[in-house]
Amino acid sequence: MLLLPLDTFYKQIPFMNNPFREDLVSRNKPEPCSVVIFGATGDLAHRKLVPALYNLAVDGELPSGVKIIGFARREKSDEVFREGLAELNKEVSRNGHDDETWDRFAENIHYHQSTFDDIDGYKRLKERLDAIDAERGGKGNRLFYLSIAPEFFDDVLEKLKEVGLNEAADGCWSRVIVEKPFGKDHASAQRLNQVVNNTFDESSTYRIDHYLGKETAQNIMVLRFANAIFEPIWNNRYIDHVEISCAEHLGMEGGRGGYYDTAGALRDMVQNHLLQLLSLVAMEPPTDLSADGVRDEKVKVIRALRKLDTPEKAAAHTVRAQYTAGVINGNNVPGYTEEDRVPEDSQTETYVAIKTFVDTWRWSGVPFYIRVGKRLPKKATEISIHFKQAPNVLFSQIGGDQPEENVLVLRIQPDEGISFRMNSKLPGAAIRMEPVKMDFQYSTSFGKSSPEAYERLLLDSMAGDATLFARRDEVEEAWKFVDDIQKAWHQSDQVPMSKYEAGSWGPKEADDLVQSEGHDWRRF
Ligand code: BG6
Repeated sequence: MLLLPLDTFYKQIPFMNNPFREDLVSRNKPEPCSVVIFGATGDLAHRKLVPALYNLAVDGELPSGVKIIGFARREKSDEVFREGLAELNKEVSRNGHDDETWDRFAENIHYHQSTFDDIDGYKRLKERLDAIDAERGGKGNRLFYLSIAPEFFDDVLEKLKEVGLNEAADGCWSRVIVEKPFGKDHASAQRLNQVVNNTFDESSTYRIDHYLGKETAQNIMVLRFANAIFEPIWNNRYIDHVEISCAEHLGMEGGRGGYYDTAGALRDMVQNHLLQLLSLVAMEPPTDLSADGVRDEKVKVIRALRKLDTPEKAAAHTVRAQYTAGVINGNNVPGYTEEDRVPEDSQTETYVAIKTFVDTWRWSGVPFYIRVGKRLPKKATEISIHFKQAPNVLFSQIGGDQPEENVLVLRIQPDEGISFRMNSKLPGAAIRMEPVKMDFQYSTSFGKSSPEAYERLLLDSMAGDATLFARRDEVEEAWKFVDDIQKAWHQSDQVPMSKYEAGSWGPKEADDLVQSEGHDWRRF
């Protein structure tokens, strides 16, 4: 008889709570629970949440006994709901779609029809969850996922509280995951936080920022704190500037213009995803890896961002712009104000560039550049750390080239990896130099694709690990920074709305912003 080591044995069995997964050894294990998705007929549930749960099941990481209950207004049977989910899963699933595996997985998916304000719908939900718990053997863990517009938060949270679903039985838990947009400014975020925390306490509240679930974002801490060479030079003595760029080629497909026009690039991407990345790059080493240990350090960075709270400061440090018609991948695309559900006279920015500073001892004087835009030539998110130039006292004596700055690039997506640019001698008798690149790619080094962000985040919420979720103070501090800019833009016409052609790398004003400091945006 062939005896397998236990960990190998477990790896071969999908749908099983697997205590030997290497990646689970160091953290809490996800626990069986009922996942109730509010807004279950929406795009996020179909394209991201259910496919993430399916892929976790395929990889054997989903705890056995997880039930998924879709809560939404439309009338639907379980079968019709499952069919709709399967259609989308076929399109987007990372591990592909296998009918037999899907059927087994889908047995655990149910549909619950109710409007968000109907208390009877919640009473029925409670009965249903209790019945599921009894079937599962009494474990009453509940995860409520609010994949709905914030105007429905009050209704859903109040009703959950009214029927007591916010409270868990002894030894169990009841948690809430909240999707963005988490408010539209500081005041509304504070109010939402109040509403959420009236029902669930902060330790049971998981504010999702899917950028934190991306493998490469998580790697920032490992790179910085598990390699002895980086931390000593991770400061203003060695680093010249830092750039965080997020380019998207998409525009307002699928009717997205309606929401986007109320937000704009600053609120949609900077307030959350990009400030989160910035805080991971700039934070001090935490004293431990607990959720609060890490988040305590991140929030200090956001608090230390230099305020851009007057039109003069905003004019000197920010650029906002809108795309006009152009060509992307050989296709003609409309300008922003010609997009579906966008008013012709819209003054919403689809591009923003910011020069800011983290006013701490470590980062004093180091510019942090942030750039994000829709309808740029391609989709890519990168953080680049630009080191100060080596003194050029030697090679200049023999008329040699000026050495280029070293650059460490963290590719968040796609083609996840890290590269380091350094100068090397060109082969030959003369001393000529040229920059070369050391490159690490996740896909080649580890031979497998990275899990989707939602997979990791859903597992963490089932495990009670909130490290990769935004805490209340982080969200509110980030809004303060963004509100100042937003107000300054609207107080005067000192920061006019620039234009850029779709398919270009953004407006000329954004180049001027960094060139005024002797820098250039990276082309990638
Ligand atoms: C969302 C924004 O949060 O992130 C979208 O609302 C944006 O506008 C998206 O397109 C980008 O996410 P990703 O993972 O595709 O980079």
